[in-house]
Amino acid sequence: MEEVLTWIEIQDNIGWIKINREKKLNALNRSLIDELHDRLLDFQKDASVRVIILTGNGDKAFVAGADIAEFSDFGPLEASALVQHGNQVLFDFIAQLNKPVIAAINGYALGGGLELAMACHFRIASQHAKMGLPEVSLGIIPGYGGTQRLPALIGKGNAMEMILTGDMIDAEKALRLGLVNQVVPQEKLLETAIALAERIMKNAPNSLKNAIKAINAADGSSKGFREEGIQFADCFGSHDFEEGITAFLEKRKPKF
Ligand code: COA
Repeated sequence: MEEVLTWIEIQDNIGWIKINREKKLNALNRSLIDELHDRLLDFQKDASVRVIILTGNGDKAFVAGADIAEFSDFGPLEASALVQHGNQVLFDFIAQLNKPVIAAINGYALGGGLELAMACHFRIASQHAKMGLPEVSLGIIPGYGGTQRLPALIGKGNAMEMILTGDMIDAEKALRLGLVNQVVPQEKLLETAIALAERIMKNAPNSLKNAIKAINAADGSSKGFREEGIQFADCFGSHDFEEGITAFLEKRKPKF
């Protein structure tokens, strides 16, 4: 039987998507990325859905990143195809969706997981959530928009520090930096997301759609996103990549 990777529900004009790959900390593999796309597309077409809330199952992880095992033997060409596909069907797709998407960050949001949260229009984090872009510790760089969306949210200096150290930050620091909109206790996470959705839903759907488009245009050109894709793919030809990924899969520290 095929694994069900997401749960969905529509309640009071809110479209809920819960990522359901808890054993792998909700890591994004290709099937999950495609399934999320289909769910989002359905909600986009459904006029009864006014706001979408995206969260992870369990209290440990929102999404602990792209699935490292899946791309461990990739070269630059496959890496390039991977991120082009992911960006098109999920990350840019969410950012440009004509309905607001709220990420309810219920735990780790790392690598592709933080990039997914950043592609959403709002982020609410539970107090114990941890966020980071640890790609450089694996011999790669963020490839799902992280090098572009993080500086836009927290400024270039803070983004340099997070990306080049690969360090995780806690929810309070994320709030101070402007990476998340609100931090609340885990048990209040979903009700806080609902309260935000209700404030948004009082407004005109067409205005929300147009405001998202206009705000996205403030991100600058697509040149930065293209450059990220080139540099991401380039990493996959390096010894550092081989060592970084092998070390993760062998559960040891990499030797760079
Ligand atoms: N890709 C693939 N599998 C992942 C994953 C990822 N990004 N993150 C976690 N997993 C898997 C683990 O391999 C493990 O699988 P196993 O039980 O079959 O061995 C399972 O999820 C549980 O993770 P584990 O590492 O045992 O949990 P932990 O509590 O010890 O550590 C983290 C939690 C988040 C610190 C750790 O899982 C981690 O560092 N993950 C990778 C984060 C990352 O680098 N993301 C960026 C990817 S580009």
